[in-house]
Amino acid sequence: MSISSFLTKKFLKSLFFPAHNRGKALPKRLIKILKMRPGFWDLPELPEIGSPLAKTGLIAKSQKELSKRFKTKRCFFGVNGASGLIQSGIIAMAKPGEYILMPRNVHISVIKTCAMQNIIPIFFNIEFSSKTGHYKPITKKWLKKVFKNIDFKKKKVVGVILVNPYYQGYAAELEPLIDICHQKNLPVLVDEAHGAYFLFCQNLNLPKSALKSKADLVVHSLHKSLNGLTQTSVLWYQGDLIEESNLIRSVNLFQTTSPSSLLLSSCEESIKDWLNKKSISKYQKRILEAKAIFQKLLRKNIPLIETQDPLKIILNTSKIGIDGFTADSFFYKNGLIAELPEMMTLTFCLGFSDQSNFIALFEKIWMKLLKESKHFSKLKMIKPPFKLIETPEKHIGVALRSKTNRILLSESLGQISGDIICPYPPGIPLIVPGERIDQNRLNWIKNLSMYNEDLVNSYISVLKS
Ligand SMILES: Cc1ncc(COP(=O)(O)O)c(C=O)c1O
Repeated sequence: MSISSFLTKKFLKSLFFPAHNRGKALPKRLIKILKMRPGFWDLPELPEIGSPLAKTGLIAKSQKELSKRFKTKRCFFGVNGASGLIQSGIIAMAKPGEYILMPRNVHISVIKTCAMQNIIPIFFNIEFSSKTGHYKPITKKWLKKVFKNIDFKKKKVVGVILVNPYYQGYAAELEPLIDICHQKNLPVLVDEAHGAYFLFCQNLNLPKSALKSKADLVVHSLHKSLNGLTQTSVLWYQGDLIEESNLIRSVNLFQTTSPSSLLLSSCEESIKDWLNKKSISKYQKRILEAKAIFQKLLRKNIPLIETQDPLKIILNTSKIGIDGFTADSFFYKNGLIAELPEMMTLTFCLGFSDQSNFIALFEKIWMKLLKESKHFSKLKMIKPPFKLIETPEKHIGVALRSKTNRILLSESLGQISGDIICPYPPGIPLIVPGERIDQNRLNWIKNLSMYNEDLVNSYISVLKS
């Protein structure tokens, strides 16, 4: 089968990203252009359109309008996912050899930037729940403890990255965390890939957007948390801690010279759609429906985990002794495709289209799973083996480019990794280049690989001694 014929395949129900749900919730104006002769809209960087970095043209005008609307200094549309703009944001904060403080659950794009630029991560651990297998949101108390344990005199820390919300929707109260960083004059980049829509719904008891919480840089993935096409994203810039010229240079470094006019238009429309009164009331209705779906499923005694993002329905499969990967294949086979299988859970993303027929199908497959599952076992999840503060023993970029041997992960005890091990989704690395592989790390990955086929018998490149 070719890729193109797969794209036309029908699924009974897809609860994965992009959040427009196979076009059902795309902004009307985008649908209008997509209905024209295929490819008609695929234009180059004509002067009238410009580009995200041009001073004139429709893109510049649109970005200017939006930053004015949200009281930021600038914003930049992106066509290389949230990944591309996170990378630009990082190099605007740090030069090679400087340190950035970041939680252990950063997205792989952060690690790749550290590798490219020889920026040194100071990882801090996060509290973890063995019941859900998820990291918990960061509290002010926790971040204060982290700051107390860093020797700011010895290490030139130049910025902080926070991930909020997490993939599953857990969100912290950001402003007090950002305040702690600002007290040390450290700019904060918030990876809000999963929380763009928080910016538009302040009346629905959703987390306060990073943009309203004084973050210096905020990256939104428009295909994950608004109605954009895949790869669309936006970077917002405010405050005085990052130099504008530095940021522009950094955005430029990761910019294709031929950004897709369709994707740029999708960036614009997916944001503007949420500023339209009629659309916003429809989306707010969807959010309320999502809350109602959660409550209805709970009342049917289906084990769910609640996070701060109502659009994520997290099934706690561990409650019936089934891992999320097994449950995922079962749901898939029965026509309901989820977004994120993990050891204890399976996460479904409702997105922004009408999901009123979700409950019946979900319940039906769930009941079937209960009936057909034979061996219920108690899943035991090992806590991530990280110290409160850790920095890879060798620079990530140096380790990644070193001479290595490829060996079985299970035989790598005591070696330094030249590899990233990173199942996707969620795209959070378990080992990064330059880290020494100790027994605790091996035990932890072994525990995870009992359920995640991608990790079974995995090989790793380790540095030649
Ligand atoms: C927390 C987080 N940040 C950033 C990204 C990257 O987003 P994109 O796929 O738009 O590049 C992801 C993708 O999964 C993510 O989960």
